[in-house]
Amino acid sequence: MNNEKGIRLWNKAKVIIPGGSQLLSKRSEMFLPEQWPSYYDRAKGCQVWDLDGNGYTDMSTMGIGACILGYADDDVDGAVKSAIDRGSMCTLNAPEEIELAELLIRLHPWAQMVRYARTGGEALAMAVRIARAKSGKDIVLFCGYHGWHDWYLSSNLANEKSLDGHLLPGLQPLGVPRALKGTSFPFNYNDTKGFMELITRHKDNVGVIVLEAIRSHDPEHEFLMAIQKVIKDLGIVLIIDEVSSGWRMNLGGAHLLYDIKPDIAVFAKAISNGYPMAAVIGRGDVMEVAQDTFISSTYWTDRIGPTAALATINKMKENDVQNHLMDIGKKVQEGWSSLASDHDLDIEVSGIYPLGHFEFKYEDPLVPKTLFTQLMLEKGFLATTGFYSSYSHKDEDVERFLTAVDSSFKFIAKAIKEGKPEKYLKGPVCHSGFKRLT
Ligand SMILES: Cc1ncc(COP(=O)(O)O)c(C=O)c1O
Repeated sequence: MNNEKGIRLWNKAKVIIPGGSQLLSKRSEMFLPEQWPSYYDRAKGCQVWDLDGNGYTDMSTMGIGACILGYADDDVDGAVKSAIDRGSMCTLNAPEEIELAELLIRLHPWAQMVRYARTGGEALAMAVRIARAKSGKDIVLFCGYHGWHDWYLSSNLANEKSLDGHLLPGLQPLGVPRALKGTSFPFNYNDTKGFMELITRHKDNVGVIVLEAIRSHDPEHEFLMAIQKVIKDLGIVLIIDEVSSGWRMNLGGAHLLYDIKPDIAVFAKAISNGYPMAAVIGRGDVMEVAQDTFISSTYWTDRIGPTAALATINKMKENDVQNHLMDIGKKVQEGWSSLASDHDLDIEVSGIYPLGHFEFKYEDPLVPKTLFTQLMLEKGFLATTGFYSSYSHKDEDVERFLTAVDSSFKFIAKAIKEGKPEKYLKGPVCHSGFKRLT
């Protein structure tokens, strides 16, 4: 396979763009160092063409979770093109902001007010600011990954391994003011005991709790009950991060499925199918505080974001997209499991159906992971150990994919049995977390 152009461009990028990309998860080293096509010329549905004209089916994360309907969706793009023709920016406001706010509030009847941003991390930073302002207390307890901002990374000032296990090991808090040490602390999902210990230790100063509605496992009743009781007793503001979990299992936030009662919920990524957009929705008395602290940005007012979100949500609603995502994701997860067992390969599958993952259960799991991506790329798939289903994935794509997984798993199982799977790698082993690149 010739994908030289992309590889050359990536090497150039690393010299003039620190880290090569604006998103850690898009670094070629996270997939297949020195072999990944790295750049796309065109993308449509779940098909992607690289700079050398090679075509692939994307059975990985569809723009790191952004493109829930598929790439270049005709309906969303049509709405956006019309917004562009009528002016994407103006001194006056875009009326779509109100239509979207009303739609979000209809879907989440506990919320009364909405603010917008354009990315998940900044929307979380906004939500944390509002929550701290409302509670009047600084300490944030959180669970999971919530972006790159100071409030989040500051937890690594207290303990540099604090964020390991919250999706991205190795994140450095360099440049985060040391004065923020002790202002945020992580706890593990479903770990009621650990959560209660943190609460006991910081009781008087905890103002905010941030967690995803769901990630790998269903929330346990006891865990949710403990959180709901504590926020009520101590006047803590609960933020539910729906940046990745939202819109995939149901129309709206996954918290609706689990009867979680947040004060604020945050959406980004899939809400607008590939166009920058984020929404912070919340109870009126909490969101009102946004008027007393300064939160403001020019491009948070552009017309494309809310237009894309409206078109995306309406299309999801009209086509029962969530059912499709669940069905396709389930087929892929069951396929991984049964093919691994056919070939006596030890893997562990996890995640909700639309956000599935598997892990190779071997001493050095990154070797079979890299080999899997390499073998799948040769067969025409962008694939790693995670799959985010989209509306554009059809049963035929899953069938072709699983046929390719079958032969790749067979190869990997044999390579592992021989004892030296790394000898089949054509480049270095992939990275799993944050590392300097050059
Ligand atoms: C749960 C969650 N929160 C926040 C973020 C950050 O969003 P963004 O990358 O749009 O800043 C992510 C991104 O992966 C996420 O998964």
